[in-house]
Amino acid sequence: MRRRLCSSTFLAAVASLIAICSLLLSVVAAGESGAEAWLRYTRLSPEARKLYDRLPSRVVILGNSALFKTAQNELARDFTQMLDRNLISSSQFTPQNSIILGTLDQLHSLAPEVNPPQRIVPDGYWLKSMRIRGHECLIITASTERGVLYGVFALLSKIARGEDFARLDESQQPYAPIRWVNQWDNLDGRIERGYGGPSIFYTDGRVRDDLTRAGQYARLLASIGINGCTVNNVNAAPGILENGIVSQLRRIADVFRPWGVQLSLAVDLSSPKVIGGLDTFDPLDPRVADWWRKKADEIYAQIPDFGGFVVKADSEGRSGPSAYARSHADAANVIARALKPHGGVVFYRAFVYNHRLDWHDLKNDRAKAAYDNFHPLDGNFDDHAIVQIKNGPIDFQVREPASPLFARLRRTNQAIELQITQEYTGQQKHLCFLVPMWKEVLDFDMRVDGNSTPVKDLVSGRVFHRPVGGFVGVANVGMDDNWLGSPLSMANLYGFGRLAWNPNLGAETIIDEWTRLTFGSDPLVVQTINTLQLSSWHVYESYTGPLGAGTLTNITGNHYDPGPESSEQNGWGQWHRADHQGIGMDRTVATGTGFIGQYPPEVQKQYESLANCPDNLLLFFHHVPYTHVLHSGKTVVQHIYDSHYEGAASAAGFIVQWKKLEGHIDEERYHDILTRFQYQAEQAVKWRDAICGWIYSISRIPDEKKRVFRND
Ligand code: GCU
Repeated sequence: MRRRLCSSTFLAAVASLIAICSLLLSVVAAGESGAEAWLRYTRLSPEARKLYDRLPSRVVILGNSALFKTAQNELARDFTQMLDRNLISSSQFTPQNSIILGTLDQLHSLAPEVNPPQRIVPDGYWLKSMRIRGHECLIITASTERGVLYGVFALLSKIARGEDFARLDESQQPYAPIRWVNQWDNLDGRIERGYGGPSIFYTDGRVRDDLTRAGQYARLLASIGINGCTVNNVNAAPGILENGIVSQLRRIADVFRPWGVQLSLAVDLSSPKVIGGLDTFDPLDPRVADWWRKKADEIYAQIPDFGGFVVKADSEGRSGPSAYARSHADAANVIARALKPHGGVVFYRAFVYNHRLDWHDLKNDRAKAAYDNFHPLDGNFDDHAIVQIKNGPIDFQVREPASPLFARLRRTNQAIELQITQEYTGQQKHLCFLVPMWKEVLDFDMRVDGNSTPVKDLVSGRVFHRPVGGFVGVANVGMDDNWLGSPLSMANLYGFGRLAWNPNLGAETIIDEWTRLTFGSDPLVVQTINTLQLSSWHVYESYTGPLGAGTLTNITGNHYDPGPESSEQNGWGQWHRADHQGIGMDRTVATGTGFIGQYPPEVQKQYESLANCPDNLLLFFHHVPYTHVLHSGKTVVQHIYDSHYEGAASAAGFIVQWKKLEGHIDEERYHDILTRFQYQAEQAVKWRDAICGWIYSISRIPDEKKRVFRND
C-alpha cells in the first residue's frame, strides 16, 4: 500500500513537472513562434519603463458592456506585461489617478469639461490627459464603444514602441467606415489561396468546437481598427446559409463581438433555388426577394450585429443574374433590401469577367470587363450595396495600374479589394511587403473632371459624397502558429489595417511601427528589417514580372512557379502577347483593345502615348519590339535580362542582411526566416533562368552581358 502510494505520488509529481515544463515551453514558443504577431507586449527595460511612471494606476470603465470589459482587461494585462504594473480595475467614475474608458456622451454627462477639439466620427477616438474635478487623469474616449477599444490599442502601441509622451492630446479618425477582411475559408477546413495552414473556423464541414484562434484573430484585427470579417470563401457553397450552419456561425460571431468585429458571409446567388426549394433565383421574382428577406431575418435573430453578405456572381463559373437576363444591380439590390432593415450591407464584387475569351481576337481584353459590366449600372445600386473592386483590372498581379472603374462610379458606393495573402506575389515563401504597392494604387490620381481625385478618396466615398465605402483585404490566415505561414508576411496584414485606417500613412512609418512591435526596438533589427521589407516588392517584381508584363507565373496551375507560356492561348485572358517580334498587350485606343479609353482623359493621355507611359507599366499598355528603348535608355530585352539578374542577386543579398541579426532576435524566428530567405534565393535563380531563357528563345537577341544561354 505504502509503495503504491509512493509510486502514485511520484507519478503525480512527474506529471506536474511535465505540465509545468510544457507550460513554460509553450510560453516561450507562443511568444516567439509569431503567434502574438505585433501584440507581443514584452517587458520594457527598467529605463524605458520610467517613461511611463506617471501613467495612472487605475483603469475605470463607464459601463459593463463586453467591449468595455475587453478594453479594460487588455489594458490591465498589457500594463502588467510591459510595465510590470498591476492596474486596479474599477467601474466607478473616479478621476483621481485613473485612465477612464468611456464614450463621449458618458464622459460629457459626468464631466462637462470633456470637449473634443473636433467631431469624433464613429470608431475614431481621443486620448487626452486632463484635469477632471481637480484630478489629473487620462481619458480614452470615442463616440462609440468600439472607438474606445481602438484608443486603448493606440495607447498600448505607443508604449510598446517606447514612444515618449508626457501628456496626451491626440484624436484619430478612420478614413472610411468599411475596414473589413475577407477569409476564403471552406467548410471542409481548406482555404482557397491560403498559405498559413487550415481554417481557424471550420473543420470537416462544420464550425470548430474550439474557437480560441478565431477570438485571437479578432483581437489582432481590432488592434489595427478592422471592424468586419467575412468568414467563408467568395466561391461560396450555398450550404453556408442552411439553418444548421447559421446556428454554428453564431458561435464565431460570439467570439468576434467582444472585439467589435462584425461577422459577414459570402453567399451564392442561386441559394434560393439550391437550398431554398424555389424553382428560381431570379432576383426580380418576388418569391426570391421574400426568401432573401426571411433568410436575413433568421440570421439577425441569431447574430444581431451581423455585417452583411459578399457576392461573387457571373464570374469564373459562378451563377449570376445573367441566367435570367437581369443586371448585377438587380442581383445586388434584392439582397441589399433584405439587409437594409437590419443595417447590413451587401458587397457585390466587380470581379466579373468571361474566362472563355477568344484569344485569337486581338481586341478582346479581360482588363476591360469590370468597367464594361459595372459602369453602365452606375446609379442603379441601392444605398446598402457596395461594389467591391480589385485594385487592378486583372487579378492581384505584381504590377497593375489602378482599376479605371474607381473613377467611373459616381452614384454607387465602392470599396477597394486588396489581397493580403500573397497568391501571385510569392505565397508567403518569398518576402513581398505589399504596402508600397497598395499605396501606389491608393495615391494614384484619377484626375476625375480634371481635379485631384486619388483612389483613396474615391473608395472612401469622399469624392462623390457617398454614404459608405472603404477597404477590404483578402487575408486568409490559418492555423499555423504565425497565422500566414511566415512571420514577415504579417506586415501585410498589419499594413492593410493601418492603411485602411489612414491611407496617408507612409510605408516607412507603417513598417517601422510593425517591426518595433514584432521584433523590438534594437536599432540594427529595426533598420535591417525595415530595409528588407521596403525593398522586397521591387525585388520580387524584378525577377518575376518587370515592365508591367504581369506576373509570368504559371496561371493555369499553382500561380507560383514561372510559367510564361501558360498565360497565352487560353480564355483566361492574362495575356502578355509575347512573340518573335515583341512583347506586351496593346491596350491603346488607337491600335489596341481600347482599355486605356476607360480612364479619365488626363490619365488616358499619359498611358496612351509611348513617350509618357511609365516604364514599369509599359508592357501592360503597349506591345513593343524587344529593341524598344525605355526611358532608362536600355532596350526592353536587356532590361528584362538585367532585372532578373539584379533581382536574383538582391534575393541572395537578403540572406546576408538577415544574418546580421543572429543573436539580436530570438532563435526560433531567426532560423525560420533564414531558411525562408535561403529558399527564396534559390527560387529567384530558378525564375531568372526560366524567364531569361524563355525571352532569349523567342527574341533570339543575346544578352549584352553574355549570361543567358539556352540549349535548344
Ligand atoms: C483569383 C483566385 C481565385 C479567386 C478569385 C476571386 O482568381 O485565383 O481563387 O476565387 O481570384 O477573387 O474571386
